[in-house]
Amino acid sequence: MENYRHSAKSFREELKAKGVFYTAPEMAEYMKKLLPDDVQEIYDPTCGNGGLLSAFSDDVQKYGQDIDGEQVRIAEERLQNFHGVTGDTLAAPAFLDRKFQYIIANPPFSVKWNPVEDERFSDAPVLPPPGKADYAFLLHILYLLAENGKAVVMNFPGILYRGQREGKIRQWLCEQNYIEKVIAIPGKKFEDTKIATCILILNRSKQTTDIIFRDEENQIEKTVSLEEVKAQDFNLSVSSYLHIETEKEEIDINTLNSDIENSTLAHLRATLDMMLMLNHTIGDKRNFAGFLTEILNIVHETTDKLKVS
Ligand SMILES: C[S@@+](CC[C@H](N)C(=O)[O-])C[C@H]1O[C@@H](n2cnc3c(N)ncnc32)[C@H](O)[C@@H]1O
Repeated sequence: MENYRHSAKSFREELKAKGVFYTAPEMAEYMKKLLPDDVQEIYDPTCGNGGLLSAFSDDVQKYGQDIDGEQVRIAEERLQNFHGVTGDTLAAPAFLDRKFQYIIANPPFSVKWNPVEDERFSDAPVLPPPGKADYAFLLHILYLLAENGKAVVMNFPGILYRGQREGKIRQWLCEQNYIEKVIAIPGKKFEDTKIATCILILNRSKQTTDIIFRDEENQIEKTVSLEEVKAQDFNLSVSSYLHIETEKEEIDINTLNSDIENSTLAHLRATLDMMLMLNHTIGDKRNFAGFLTEILNIVHETTDKLKVS
């Protein structure tokens, strides 16, 4: 088992060295658990070598597309019931003729794309910016999502607060009531994922207009009304809604004082011992007795002040 773990890790490192992004199994498992148990078919629009899809059992029908043919070939080898297509999901989408009940994805973060006018993007108020394809992937996913479907998408946290075109699309997604939940994932939660990320759960048939915010690091969750989200200018950063109360340690002033006294006395004793030793060994070149008298004067002055107060 240990050997297996070791070789799995070196395999991942090899892939990373080749610039291939690897989806850690525990991340795939975490994302899978955000979907119901009865998934019978699942689609990943940027499926890579099938890491996310591999979290689903062999009998589940798996659909995927990736721009990198080598990755699709690996996915084909490792997955059962896999229908993979090589190609650019944004420029040459496969599966446009159908809808999926469940979609899972971790598209590349904030890559460039060539905006195209097509039916996937036409409902949104504006096209996503050419410099950042994150919302293009999200709109693609939303387009292929069935009415009663759910999509779990890992993304870069910038999509939660960036403005301009992305801000307009985010506002539209909120107003259309497509966002069910936003989860903040701390960096290093999953192996191979050092930076903080976020997960959006999209749902085309939500029961309420509320949005649930979850902080995975502190394991807290809050349901927020659309009005509150609107009041925050449709910023979806989890930290805007979940304020972590750091427990304030009760400070006992007596304990604090006695700690200060003890450390001052210990410090004074150690200093005087060292000065005494130096005085014995190298002679009193700096009038050690005078220094002690100075200390005594400070003590007497303070004692007098104490009597007055
Ligand atoms: C973060 S990885 C996703 C890994 C994948 N979910 C897995 O489980 O292994 C991003 C993937 O997006 C692919 N990709 C990037 N741009 C793409 C595009 N325009 N169309 C399709 N795939 C794309 C990359 O080749 C890469 O495999």
